[in-house]
Amino acid sequence: MEEKRILCIGLVCLDIINVVDRYPEEDSDTRCLSQRWQRGGNASNSSTVLSLLGVPCSFMGSLAPSRVADFIIDDFESRGIESCNVVWQSKGVTPCACCIVNMLNGSRTVVLADTNLPDVTAEDFEKVNLSNYKWIHWEARNASEQVKMIQQVEHYNASVSSDQKITISVEIEKPREDLYQMFSYGEVVFVSKEVARDFGYESACAAVKGLYSRVKKGAYLICPWADKGADAVGPDGIIVHSDAFSPEVVVDTLGAGDTFNACVICALSRGQSLQEALVFGCQIAGKKCGVHGYDGIV
Ligand SMILES: Nc1ncnc2c1ncn2[C@@H]1O[C@H](COP(=O)(O)OP(=O)(O)O)[C@@H](O)[C@H]1O
Ligand SMILES: *[C@@H]1O[C@H](CO)[C@@H](O)[C@H](O)[C@H]1NC(C)=O
Ligand SMILES: *[C@@H]1O[C@H](CO)[C@@H](O)[C@H](O)[C@H]1NC(C)=O
Ligand SMILES: *[C@@H]1O[C@H](CO)[C@@H](O)[C@H](O)[C@H]1NC(C)=O
Ligand SMILES: *[C@@H]1O[C@H](CO)[C@@H](O)[C@H](O)[C@H]1NC(C)=O
Ligand SMILES: *[C@@H]1O[C@H](CO)[C@@H](O)[C@H](O)[C@H]1NC(C)=O
Repeated sequence: MEEKRILCIGLVCLDIINVVDRYPEEDSDTRCLSQRWQRGGNASNSSTVLSLLGVPCSFMGSLAPSRVADFIIDDFESRGIESCNVVWQSKGVTPCACCIVNMLNGSRTVVLADTNLPDVTAEDFEKVNLSNYKWIHWEARNASEQVKMIQQVEHYNASVSSDQKITISVEIEKPREDLYQMFSYGEVVFVSKEVARDFGYESACAAVKGLYSRVKKGAYLICPWADKGADAVGPDGIIVHSDAFSPEVVVDTLGAGDTFNACVICALSRGQSLQEALVFGCQIAGKKCGVHGYDGIV
């Protein structure tokens, strides 16, 4: 039998990167030094990193048929990421983010189009053949639907032997009240510093301590905090920490969080300890900050 895969569920979009040598003024024409297309979106980026780490993986999210979607599918394929779980929507358009990168100071301005593309539903998820997956990662987006999907996995887990069960991880990235119900699902919960701050915590350590009562029994709670590294806690109550690994020059921190999540999931799925997983996540995420895109990070 083929090795089981990790499935990442969330957003994929097209990033149109415009590199300029000064920030455009309103109502003026500005020349752009270069322009390129790149596949983006948090869960989509995490699947790229998993694939670079040699983990067979799959992406599930919505697309609307278009040339942009063709580009995205080709890019998944070129990275060896299975795209058979993509849900083709008849309403809405595939999201594009316009990124303006100022070469001189490294600033990035991102304009994300609101495209009304429906999210994946529990009904879509029913079509997934769960026996192909060992781990499913959700980027919290439409919590009420996602909870129904997780319940399907619970059901599946109850019907298979323990070595076939699926592990679940959840990322709560956006400070939105409706997403906070996701804390109580999954063996591994990632919480961003924006969400931690929304709860009034000013460090990763305070956040994992303070929010641990919200996760399910036995789960790991993990909080990355940019150049401060990351902290985590599990059922033994011991807080573990890894410092960040700063690259010589910070070139591009966008996607660092997605890299960190992918590395932690990879390490834990290979049976490494929470401490080892944090260090690995910070090492590779730090390397990512030193390059554009993901080339050469593993
Ligand atoms: N400036 C940086 N220098 C070194 N490592 C970084 C830096 N920014 C992020 N990281 C690494 O990436 C991980 C994820 O950081 P996070 O704050 O979630 O990134 P994001 O900017 O994507 O929100 C951190 O735990 C850290 O290991
Ligand atoms: C699901 O996948 C497994 C393993 O790849 C395969 O044996 C099985 O036939 C599939 N089930 C369905 C309903 O397609
Ligand atoms: C979540 O998904 C359901 C089913 O598709 C939809 O009715 C609802 O509007 C969605 N909610 C949000 C906040 O997107
Ligand atoms: C699936 O089974 C695994 C292994 O027993 C367990 O850790 C996990 O909680 C289960 N997942 C769900 C969603 O019940
Ligand atoms: C992706 O994650 C980054 C930080 O990790 C966050 O700033 C951004 O809003 C997220 N993007 C989307 C589309 O959710
Ligand atoms: C995905 O990764 C690319 C390359 O690092 C980055 O430019 C982009 O901002 C990332 N997208 C998100 C949503 O984080």
